[in-house]
Amino acid sequence: MAKLLEIKDLNVRYHTDDSIVYAVNNLSLSLEHGEKLGLVGETGAGKTTLALSILQLLPNKVGKIESGSIKYDGEELIGQGEGYMLGLRGRRISMIFQDPMTSLNPTQTVGDQVLEVLRLHFPQLTKEEKDAKVDEILQLVGIPASRKNEYPHQFSGGMKQRVVIAMALIAEPELLLADEPTTALDVTIQAQIMELMRRLKDKFNTAVILITHDLGVVAEFCDKVSVVYAGRVVEHGTVEQIFEAKEKHPYTMGLINCIPDLSKDEERLKPIPGRMVDPRIIPTGCCFADRCPHCMEICKKQPPEIHDLDGHLIMCHLFDAENGGKA
Ligand SMILES: Nc1ncnc2c1ncn2[C@@H]1O[C@H](COP(=O)(O)OP(=O)(O)OP(=O)(O)O)[C@@H](O)[C@H]1O
Ligand code: SF4
Ligand SMILES: [Mg+2]
Repeated sequence: MAKLLEIKDLNVRYHTDDSIVYAVNNLSLSLEHGEKLGLVGETGAGKTTLALSILQLLPNKVGKIESGSIKYDGEELIGQGEGYMLGLRGRRISMIFQDPMTSLNPTQTVGDQVLEVLRLHFPQLTKEEKDAKVDEILQLVGIPASRKNEYPHQFSGGMKQRVVIAMALIAEPELLLADEPTTALDVTIQAQIMELMRRLKDKFNTAVILITHDLGVVAEFCDKVSVVYAGRVVEHGTVEQIFEAKEKHPYTMGLINCIPDLSKDEERLKPIPGRMVDPRIIPTGCCFADRCPHCMEICKKQPPEIHDLDGHLIMCHLFDAENGGKA
């Protein structure tokens, strides 16, 4: 059986008036049916760009896939016409966007907006069947069906996000792209939404790419993790490999050091010093060299290759054979 998603050597650029932004660079990753992958990395790493590339929703004219391949269930998506993509989006692949309000229409009731997804993808259902499904999914995400005739502005931030999740899941997609689904919410609501996502992923067996800055959420929710830096997957592995193996990419190590350890009385976290490389420049060596505490001469001259340690992938010169193969 083909993998659900297989991305190979993807390069995505934004062409602005005065420059080219190298947002995604030679990025490869894959996902099995039902698998949950966490995509982690700091702001500007290219996470949203990757999700938009899968759905072929990059901003017109500005965003462009330069090269590479995105296969969904064995079919190449790059170059497919809009008709083909319309059949996939919302039906087989859904996306929860970073800001819930970008997905909700303020002038339409929440019930109608959920119904719209069914109208588009399941025209064969009767009106009664569609209404029953809308009530059922709203209840499932914790919104009383009696409130379906209300408008988004009558809902709290957490409730709006629940509606967005209902819209994303009502067609029972095979793949859910969840782009920071809780960032706009306060901490208690964040926990409730993640709990809801956990229940729903089990109920529907949906494959999920969960995009987040939060490694703690990834540890609880995901099977696998891809750590993205400057548009590249610098480390990939199972949750155990990423958190427990002693071999780690220095950037991942930095991210893990940023997680507060409540059992210790530490007053300060250890943020990663410096900033991500300018995305308008292709570095000659490793993209993390400027910030890396282990940077060697070769790191400034030559981009590192990906080392495969039993399926645990690390893009770093520390793992080159001449450095002993294992750091
Ligand atoms: N429409 C655009 N035009 C030009 N550059 C863009 C555009 N959208 C994104 N970029 C740039 O592409 C790079 C990747 O952005 P992207 O939004 O994919 O990052 P991200 O990892 O999702 O960040 P965040 O965590 O802040 O959401 C950044 O340098 C960003 O400034
Ligand atoms: S390749 Fe060199 S600079 Fe890059 S992460 Fe590894 S040790 Fe650090
Ligand atoms: Mg983003």
